[in-house]
Amino acid sequence: MSHKPLVLSGMQPTNTLHLGNYLGALKNWVKMQEDMPCLFCVVDMHAITADAGYGKSEELARSTREVAAAYIAGGVDPARTPIFNQGQVPEHAELSWIFNCVARLGWLDRMTQFKEKSGKHKERASVGLYTYPVLMAADILVYKATHVPVGEDQKQHLELARDIAQKFNNDYGVPDFFPQPEPVIMGTATRVMSLRDGTKKMSKSDESDASRINLTDDADAIANKIRRAKTDPLPLPASKDELKDRPEAENLLNIYAALADQNRDAVIAQFAGQQFSGFKNALADLTVAKLEPMAREMRRLLADPAEIDRILKAGARSARAIATPVMDEVKRRVGFIA
Ligand code: TRP
Repeated sequence: MSHKPLVLSGMQPTNTLHLGNYLGALKNWVKMQEDMPCLFCVVDMHAITADAGYGKSEELARSTREVAAAYIAGGVDPARTPIFNQGQVPEHAELSWIFNCVARLGWLDRMTQFKEKSGKHKERASVGLYTYPVLMAADILVYKATHVPVGEDQKQHLELARDIAQKFNNDYGVPDFFPQPEPVIMGTATRVMSLRDGTKKMSKSDESDASRINLTDDADAIANKIRRAKTDPLPLPASKDELKDRPEAENLLNIYAALADQNRDAVIAQFAGQQFSGFKNALADLTVAKLEPMAREMRRLLADPAEIDRILKAGARSARAIATPVMDEVKRRVGFIA
C-alpha cells in the first residue's frame, strides 16, 4: 500500500533565526509547497527539553511567534499550508508516549545529538532531551507524513522514526499502518557556514553575533557583518577547484549563489580574480535586498501577535483534523478503550 505524499517539518523556537535557517530550510519548504501538501510546525515542545522554567516562558512564546512570522514572511502561505505550534496539538504528545513504549533504550542510546547536547553530565539532562527523537517521530507519523525536509544532522533521528514506524506496524500486525518517512536532505549549496569560521555551521548558539546574519538584522547590521566576514588573502577563485581549502571563500560564494538563485559556477565566473572587498559589497547589497523585505514583513506580523496566534490556532485545527483519525486508530490498535 502506498501512502499519500505529505511533507512535515519543524523548527525549534530558540533564539533568533538566521540566514542558515532561511537558505538551508525555509526557502526549500516554500518550494515544496508547490509540489505537495505540507504541514509546518513550530516545535515548542522540543524547545523545553533544555533551558526551560520560570522566566523562560515569555521568551518561548515570543520565539514561537517569531518563528511562525518567519515562516509566513519567508513565503509559506498559511491559507494553503497549516502553520501551528506543536503544543497546541495534543496528539503529538499522545503518540509520543506510545512510541516511548515502542522504541528501545538501545536505539536511543545511539543518538549522537543527545550525546552532544547532554555533554559531560548526562545524568543532569532532562528525560525529555533523551526522548526528543521519539517526540520527533510522533510529529511526523501522527500525520502519516512521507517526506521530511531536514538538515544532515537530523538524518539519524529520521532513521529512528522509520524504525519506530516499522516496529509499531510489526508489533500490532498492521504492515502498512505507518509509512516509512523519507528525509529530504537539502542540497549542499545551501549549507551556510559561520562568517567568522568557514568550517563551522552558522548557528544560533555561536557566542559571536558577527558569525551569523539574523533574519531580523537591519540593513546596516547585515552590511557590516558581511564586510567584516573572515576571508583569506587571495583574490576570488577562477574555478571551483581553487576553492579547495578556502572554506570562507566557498561559504560566501555559496551564499551569493543561493540568494541570487544562480548556480555557483556562474557566480565564480562572474567574480573570478576580483578582490574580496568588491565582492563583499555586491554580496551585502544582494543580502539586504533579499532579507530586508522579509525582515520588514516579520516586524509587521510581530506587531500584531494576536493575528499570529489566530493563524497558529487555525493551523492547529487543520493539523488536528488529520491527526485525530490516525490517533483514534492507534488507540484502538493498542487497546485503549475510547
Ligand atoms: N529536530 C529538528 C531540528 O532540530 C526539529 C524537529 C522537531 C523536526 N520535530 C520535527 C524536523 C519533525 C522535522 C520533522 O531541526
